[in-house]
Amino acid sequence: MKRRNFIEKSLAGAVGLSLPSWVPLPGRILGANDKIVLAQIGCGGRGMDTLIGTCKINDNVVVKTVCDVKYNKLEAAVSVVEKELGYRPKAVKNMKEVFDDREIDAVMISTPEHWHALATIWACQAGKDVYVEKNPTISIWEGRKMIEAAQKYKRIVQIGFQNRSAPYGFSAQEYIRSGKLGRIVTVKCYNLLGGEKWMAQPDQPDPSWIDWDGWLGPAAARPYNPGITNPDGRGGWLNYWSFGGGALSDDASHVMDLARMVLGNPPHPKSVYACGGNWPWGSGKETPEFISINYDFGNFSMTCDSGNGTNYMKKTPQSIRLDPNTYPDWRTNATRTEIYGTEGLMYLGRHGGGWQVKGEDSRIIAQHKTIFPDPDHQKDFIQSLRSRKKPNADVEQGQLSACLVHLGNIAYRVGNKQLYFDGEKERFTNSQEANALLKPSSREHYRIPDIV
Ligand SMILES: NC(=O)c1ccc[n+]([C@@H]2O[C@H](COP(=O)([O-])OP(=O)(O)OC[C@H]3O[C@@H](n4cnc5c(N)ncnc54)[C@H](O)[C@@H]3O)[C@@H](O)[C@H]2O)c1
Repeated sequence: MKRRNFIEKSLAGAVGLSLPSWVPLPGRILGANDKIVLAQIGCGGRGMDTLIGTCKINDNVVVKTVCDVKYNKLEAAVSVVEKELGYRPKAVKNMKEVFDDREIDAVMISTPEHWHALATIWACQAGKDVYVEKNPTISIWEGRKMIEAAQKYKRIVQIGFQNRSAPYGFSAQEYIRSGKLGRIVTVKCYNLLGGEKWMAQPDQPDPSWIDWDGWLGPAAARPYNPGITNPDGRGGWLNYWSFGGGALSDDASHVMDLARMVLGNPPHPKSVYACGGNWPWGSGKETPEFISINYDFGNFSMTCDSGNGTNYMKKTPQSIRLDPNTYPDWRTNATRTEIYGTEGLMYLGRHGGGWQVKGEDSRIIAQHKTIFPDPDHQKDFIQSLRSRKKPNADVEQGQLSACLVHLGNIAYRVGNKQLYFDGEKERFTNSQEANALLKPSSREHYRIPDIV
């Protein structure tokens, strides 16, 4: 089919994104073996990997619809589903059509971060269960609204924090819970990635391969810029506060989420201090090239060092991610956590890095490793849909982990300050400037209401 015909056929009737037309719907009651019908919203690299994995490893799970505002990605998504799963899904550019389709049970949301909360809430209101990628939000307030929507509409909302389904995550949690590591003294999270100088590019007229207004969604209207996103890949949207939270929300969110999980899911910290800047390369990013954060959890401290200035540090290589027996070299592992207990030091890796506890003279006291846990997480999502039990990365824990990202970024944005946080109210007690960053300003027609 010619490209133009494909787009016209696939997008027939789409008139741009607008307020949802549905009234809140109850979801279909699923039996243990019932067919589950999915839709994919956001068909970039991550979305398609997760969708295909979920359909392949679970029985009786199909995708009915793929949705993207990039027409080339939509076209490619149909071909990928056909090649991998053997049938052609419907293609739409407006997620509203997905929510209006009563045959769809659940949506997998893999858009950029600024769309995650609104799309999740719309999905819950329409009676759909949700798998939404990390970082689940760009603000603290949105996460609370996602939780309220999941509870009100009795929906499963799984966050793409896949380490929460990793057997090594559960065993590390049990090791610490049993007291073998002793009392926790301090926790050090690292996300020391490589990078290079990044500068904004000139704005351009809106291209024909994208519904640019639909891509912007809740974010303020602005001209298209090839530095934000491009036809082929992700682009630099993470470098803008309107769309993401930099390296901290990208990879460090996983590191801190896994740390929180193995520590027994502590509530919000009492205070946060952050210090950062574009020191390594002098980039023109809004988000910092490097940030160093200190959290006070009351009975232990946690730090997170995150950025894009250390090219010699590496994420756990594929060969180790998929090898159940080999551990990373922790010293140059870019995305690790060190948990210092009174009885030993636990090195913990995401991406299937596993964990090792070392004592004096680097003696290994205990260890456990399994492989990269994406399949475990995709299975857990489908099991939750059928059992109606909370998923491993339920939205409530997702919010607490995402808030560590937002707390650090807000402390940086108000000028590298220490901020005190009231976890019950999810508000700062010593900075109105920081409180002004709790909630994003959204465009009309894309606003999350106070009462979801
Ligand atoms: N859990 C993980 O390990 C993991 C790994 C990689 C990425 N991610 C997350 O997955 C998400 C997507 O990542 P990516 O690398 O695929 O990004 P990407 O920018 O390449 O893809 C996002 C897609 O969403 C589409 N989109 C934007 N607005 C839309 C809308 N209104 N309706 C439908 N589609 C829309 C874009 O056009 C694009 O094709 C991000 O949040 C990222 O952080 C998670």
